[in-house]
Amino acid sequence: MYIDIHCHIIPGIDDGALNYDVAINMLRIAQKNGTEKIIATPHYVHGNTRYGYSTIIEKCAELNHIAQNHGLDIRVYPGCEVFITPELIDLYEQKLIDTLAGSEYMLVEFPLISIPIYTDDILYQLQLKGITPIIAHPERYSEIQNNIMLLDNYVSRGIQVQINSGSITGMYGMEAKKTALRLLEQGLVHYVASDAHSDRTRSPDLSKAAKIVERKFGSRVREDLFTSNPMKLIKT
Ligand SMILES: [Fe+2]
Repeated sequence: MYIDIHCHIIPGIDDGALNYDVAINMLRIAQKNGTEKIIATPHYVHGNTRYGYSTIIEKCAELNHIAQNHGLDIRVYPGCEVFITPELIDLYEQKLIDTLAGSEYMLVEFPLISIPIYTDDILYQLQLKGITPIIAHPERYSEIQNNIMLLDNYVSRGIQVQINSGSITGMYGMEAKKTALRLLEQGLVHYVASDAHSDRTRSPDLSKAAKIVERKFGSRVREDLFTSNPMKLIKT
């Protein structure tokens, strides 16, 4: 049983599921491949995103209701993926963004090309508020690909790491795959999630990546990254 902590499954809100049909199809794919719980994580990009967190909560409830009507036995929890910004703490205080499923963990993404200089300060400020930042898909960031010690530095300060299942299967290319495997070897990963955007290429199927992780690193690591660690984020 897997728990997916990063998934763009709320329809019509960001570049994820186009509509409810696609969202339901995504839930079907997830369930068929062993996922039981999903945290919905629409993008929040300061200056670009027009909705607040209450919209995500409402739409999540709606999606759960529709899923139930379709006979699906899978539950969706509210969350978001916040693009790093100097305003991050203000956005949190204004309740425009929030943690994953009401936990003490927040999913934060960086630009693919370079990590802004204010990043360390913002992540530290989050930690002072009792929130553990989870860095979304660092294996896709060129700075990390060139120097994984940067990530070691974050992890040693109590920051956590989520990599994409698609990076393990090679969907994002050789560099991301190589980096994902190196991060796994070094024990720098806390979660593997789908970062699914559709019912097609970027789908919420975690099973292929889970098999690779089990084959290369053993069932204990697979269990930690796909089930036990994500489970700690979900209280109900
Ligand atoms: Fe994402």
